[in-house]
Amino acid sequence: EMELSLRPQRLSQYIGQGHVKKDMEVYIQAARQRDEALDHVLLYGPPGLGKTTLAFVIANELSVSLKSTSGPAIERAGDLVALLTDLEPGDVLFIDEIHRLAKPVEEVLYSAMEDFYIDIVVGEGQTTHAVHLPLPPFTLIGATTLAGQLSAPLRDRFGIVEHMQYYQVSDLEKIVLRSSEVFHTKISPQAAVELARRSRGTPRVANRLLKRVRDFAEVKGEKEISLETTTQALKQLQVDSAGLDQTDRKLLRTMILSYGGGPVGIRTLASNIGEDRETIESLYEPYLLQNGFIVMTPRGRVVTQKAYQQLNLPLPGDEA
Ligand code: ADE
Repeated sequence: EMELSLRPQRLSQYIGQGHVKKDMEVYIQAARQRDEALDHVLLYGPPGLGKTTLAFVIANELSVSLKSTSGPAIERAGDLVALLTDLEPGDVLFIDEIHRLAKPVEEVLYSAMEDFYIDIVVGEGQTTHAVHLPLPPFTLIGATTLAGQLSAPLRDRFGIVEHMQYYQVSDLEKIVLRSSEVFHTKISPQAAVELARRSRGTPRVANRLLKRVRDFAEVKGEKEISLETTTQALKQLQVDSAGLDQTDRKLLRTMILSYGGGPVGIRTLASNIGEDRETIESLYEPYLLQNGFIVMTPRGRVVTQKAYQQLNLPLPGDEA
């Protein structure tokens, strides 16, 4: 029996993302039956939802190797050529943060994805010539937090596009229970639900909070992580009742106290709270939007009544 790992190895062990799993089961089985490379897959959604994990699961289900890199790591076209020419038929090339590829690198990908070849220029001066280099059929899996930032030519070359959603509390609860087994730690059912509720819909957050809460419980000498220790630890970690962290609250508080609740533009907000724009747009804003703490208007984001209540701030007009 293989040792249980925090990251699932098989699609059947992968919790949540039901629609993505259902799609991928079919496409993987069809590719296997035809003995062909799976079509290229684009996974998009907020950070921490398991895009990388899913890419590894897909390669595993296809019984092929996976080579992993990221957009910013591929500096020159030659770096990508080296990766592509190293693939075996059917292999997966995983590119995380694919929206951050340099343009000349991205252009090499077009023919590689579409027709499995690259044209490279070799030699110098008089001997310079173009070489047409066929590639083995392969599967590119790209992951991005901002699908809108992908160029249309690149986006159009993915035959399979899957949107990763925030996890439901019931799925996060299963992940917390599974992870505590991996850690050989007991956790009360009430504590598991509480952790799940306050993990921003994100397995990466749930697993991180579980590790910290386990530290508190072990130092107290608890045999099983209790609800009481969980709420104490979360208070110390400054995770509030809705799972908002310090940066979430800083963002909302700035919008309320400095901009009368909005509308406020993304650049203004980013410079005011000292986070980069991309982090706000991919990490913080989607969760606050999804949970109704802010809404988007044509003139920028605006806080809702729910945000004032969560921060215990008086609603405008209620100050008196
Ligand atoms: N650990 C992190 N994400 C997971 C998921 N989606 N399913 C199971 N375990 C996980």
